[in-house]
Amino acid sequence: MLDSIAQMNVRGILRSIAAETQKRLIVAIDGPAAAGKSTIARAIAERLGFTYIDTGAMYRAVALWALRVGVNLDDLHRLEQLAKEARIEFAPGDAVLLNGEDVTSAIREPAVSVAASKVSMAPGVRRAMREEQRRIGAAHSVVMEGRDIGTVVFPDAKVKVYLDAAPEVRAGRRAAETGEMIEQIAEQIAERDHRDRTRTEAPLTQAPDAEYLDTTRLSPSQVEEAILKLVRERTSNGKERH
Ligand code: DC
Repeated sequence: MLDSIAQMNVRGILRSIAAETQKRLIVAIDGPAAAGKSTIARAIAERLGFTYIDTGAMYRAVALWALRVGVNLDDLHRLEQLAKEARIEFAPGDAVLLNGEDVTSAIREPAVSVAASKVSMAPGVRRAMREEQRRIGAAHSVVMEGRDIGTVVFPDAKVKVYLDAAPEVRAGRRAAETGEMIEQIAEQIAERDHRDRTRTEAPLTQAPDAEYLDTTRLSPSQVEEAILKLVRERTSNGKERH
């Protein structure tokens, strides 16, 4: 009951702001691997009635295609071609389609996680994904999560969150989801984070105007509430202060 009242309030505020500005709202959620971005972003999108976009899934889809057709992950030109040609769609229920095929599970394979992190270093791939992400954000109010949403894709996003958690907690959460060994996951995550943080093009970093949220000791609903509070604060033009 309380939840639904809070939800109505948030929706009401957003509707009036959208009417005032005639603009779409972007909620950008960035952070390292397995920080809980997907779970939280999906829930926030649901609460606000916004479209949820998992940009990692887009890089994963390109990586899956590259692995399937045997493209060398150092071949920047071929990777860019694939990224431009890839038809990536989000279907109801958060299914991910690549060229019409449901690849929702296939893109979560460990080999694809590693390949996605490599493929996402290619400037041409990033350009193609960025264009698509901006196109989606221009047409819908979105909760978009990834690594460079608040820094590069939508630097003017009204609401930016940098979601983090202690490395061992992130590895533990991911192990609970996948059933893999925690030590192995911790190693893979550390390697992927290092690559994502040190690449030249759009590395993972916190935007100066992003709210840093350490979720190590927070439940998903506490994180959701913190983000919804931020949405209210940043979209009420100072009318609402807590
Ligand atoms: O969020 P994820 O773990 O599913 O993302 C997979 C990889 O894609 C990640 O290691 C880095 C890359 N990625 C990126 O470079 N930029 C984004 N906005 C999202 C993901």
